[in-house]
Amino acid sequence: MKLGILISGRGSNMLAIAEAIENGTIPNAEIAVVISDKPSAQGLIKAMEKGIKTQAIPLSGRLREEHDAEIVAELKNRDVELVCLAGYMRLLSKDFIRSFPNQIINIHPSLLPSFKGLDAQKQAFDYGVKFTGCTVHFVDEELDHGAIIAQKVVEVNDNDTSETLSARILENEHALYIEAIAKIVAGNYEIIERKVKFTAETQRRGED
Ligand code: GRF
Repeated sequence: MKLGILISGRGSNMLAIAEAIENGTIPNAEIAVVISDKPSAQGLIKAMEKGIKTQAIPLSGRLREEHDAEIVAELKNRDVELVCLAGYMRLLSKDFIRSFPNQIINIHPSLLPSFKGLDAQKQAFDYGVKFTGCTVHFVDEELDHGAIIAQKVVEVNDNDTSETLSARILENEHALYIEAIAKIVAGNYEIIERKVKFTAETQRRGED
């Protein structure tokens, strides 16, 4: 399966995915392209160093719809079947989402539906929760809202700062995103209303 990864910055999740593909933890997948809306994104350099195709597609003062149409065209040209958002800091337009039905996933650094939006780790820390974590979910037209694929709990320690907590969540994000992508690529799941159910049965039925 060909993956397209969208980033805006550091790209540590992107790199974790690339390494998991390299070492066989995500079988039957390849990264067709890494796209960033920010030409200066550190993640673009990391992807290039791995020999992955990269493309900077900045907004450049256009409407979101025009920008997204260019990104969709690039992904379609490269036969991308699964779009992985990995620190991509823009909301996708309806047309983008409809171009890849149930084929766009995102990682978010909280246990959704708690702490949607920006700085989710700090939101959770400031709120004083004892447990937070990360979530991989399908992307729909609402922010941080689509059906949940996988979640991981991270305990908040008394001596944590927002920074130490974010770092521990990030390590867990890498592991969770890899695990979730491997399952989605394997294809043994079905989505019933908001519920993503993984069954070996589904794949067998799909192959009939
Ligand atoms: C991660 O915390 C991710 O959950 C959020 O943005 C951050 C991206 O980090 N959506 P990186 O660019 O993958 O290092």
